[in-house]
Amino acid sequence: MSMQVPLRPAWLALAKHVRSVRHRHLRDLFAADPERFDQFSLRHGPLLLDYSKQRLVAETLNLLRQLAEQAGWRTWMERMRAGEAINHTEDRAVRHVDLRAGPAAPPEVKAVLERIRLFCDQIHDGRWRGFSGERITDVVNIGIGGSDLGPRMAVHALAAFEQPDIRVHFVANLDSADLASTLGRLNPRSTLFIVASKTFTTLETMANAHTARRWVLAAANDERAIARHFVAASTNLAATAEFGIAPENVFEFWDWVGGRFSLWSAIGLPIALAVGFRHFEQLLAGAHDIDEHFFNAPADGNLPLTMALIALWNTNFLDAHSHGVFPYSHSLALLPSHLQQLEMESNGKRANRDGLAVDYPTNPILWGEAGTNGQHSFFQLLHQGGALVASDFIAVGRSDFPLPGHHSGLLANCLAQSSALAFGQTTEEARAAGIAEHLLPFRRFPGNQPSTTLMLPELTPFTLGQLIALYEHKVFCLGVLWNLNSFDQWGVELGKQLAGRLAPCIRNEAASDTLDASTRGLIDYLRQQRI
Ligand code: F6P
Repeated sequence: MSMQVPLRPAWLALAKHVRSVRHRHLRDLFAADPERFDQFSLRHGPLLLDYSKQRLVAETLNLLRQLAEQAGWRTWMERMRAGEAINHTEDRAVRHVDLRAGPAAPPEVKAVLERIRLFCDQIHDGRWRGFSGERITDVVNIGIGGSDLGPRMAVHALAAFEQPDIRVHFVANLDSADLASTLGRLNPRSTLFIVASKTFTTLETMANAHTARRWVLAAANDERAIARHFVAASTNLAATAEFGIAPENVFEFWDWVGGRFSLWSAIGLPIALAVGFRHFEQLLAGAHDIDEHFFNAPADGNLPLTMALIALWNTNFLDAHSHGVFPYSHSLALLPSHLQQLEMESNGKRANRDGLAVDYPTNPILWGEAGTNGQHSFFQLLHQGGALVASDFIAVGRSDFPLPGHHSGLLANCLAQSSALAFGQTTEEARAAGIAEHLLPFRRFPGNQPSTTLMLPELTPFTLGQLIALYEHKVFCLGVLWNLNSFDQWGVELGKQLAGRLAPCIRNEAASDTLDASTRGLIDYLRQQRI
């Protein structure tokens, strides 16, 4: 059994150390150290991680790095790389880095990539035809969670690299409004569906896939049409066959790819279709570049480890239980949704690796929104609401859709917000700025909200791959530091089981009298609505 996390010597030292840091203001930390930016920023090629606006000093990082050593982060990294079943509750290895290892990737990975390449070629050059001989103009990815969020985010992020003549859509929700509104715009003769599901049993995906299948059959009136309009990305070849998808139309992946780490696998097929296989390869290459950095860089120059240590410091020592992610990039607008699953499904846990209840907070609530939009909704609370919120600002040096005058304004806003959050505005400063005396209380900004700014030179498939991989390894490190299995997700099971029991009650096919009073009351209401 591993040592309880809060008993590790570095954790105890941090608990003492925080007393001397907690009440220090970022204004004072910057005033005391003109080298602060140089001291607390890291570069990897053209990537820049500026964490000087975090509420920490050199000793904080020393202790945090000691904690990482005491948690055995390098040993765990080696165990992951060696293919050990570090996802011990599911007895699975964690090998998503193998998916993007380029020439060093396992043969089965290379074989599927080659099939994806050939398939993309056929779709893009119009050789692949629908049942009536029309070329494919629209692809609908049907999947949810990890089989949706990553590819959806990446396709949106890489809009500047879109292939001509093909549109990629995403349907996830069980609510028929999602599928119906998508199909309403499409022609079954020129639409291809990707049924994306690791397990091929997920309720939402199967329901949408069967409805889509009926939609195609209604137009084709011939079962053979299914082979021209349905492909799958899955680990469950028996279930894909049972659905009627031809084996040659199944792009396989493996149980050692976690759902939220799967966009690099066949689950990335919609990305390759949207932006072209060459760009998909660049995405993989960017992630691989960060893998190499993560595996080889020393602790004090290691970006993902540093991101994780900062997150732990904010969560467990400064008591910030909310984490905002603000990409100042419209194209990265869906990044917070992807990170929500990546971080919260991985590390939102209450049992440690030994099955013991943890008595320290684990992953903070992650949320976010693209800048500048967020500034006109919730930023007010960050500035003056009183809650401690740690933030990541993400900015891109060059615009992917340049129009005169926009990008410098966007970047100015990004820098202005992180600066205002960090340094605030005192009453004296407000007075000196000419604010009327009676308004001074309203124009005071306490500041001292910690943030990190991550700068990318430009948004390309390569830098997007880097960005996502940085967060993936951050998640891995946090799991090690918190002594969690980051790769299972038992917490989502209970609700699924209950939904299975409640559906017949709502349809009035099963009695509801054994249910709790609230659920019963709500079901009664729904039954009345349907009469
Ligand atoms: O419900 C959670 C989850 O299991 C996620 O972890 C996963 O990404 C998602 O459902 C979808 O699963 P599948 O790809 O098997 O359909």
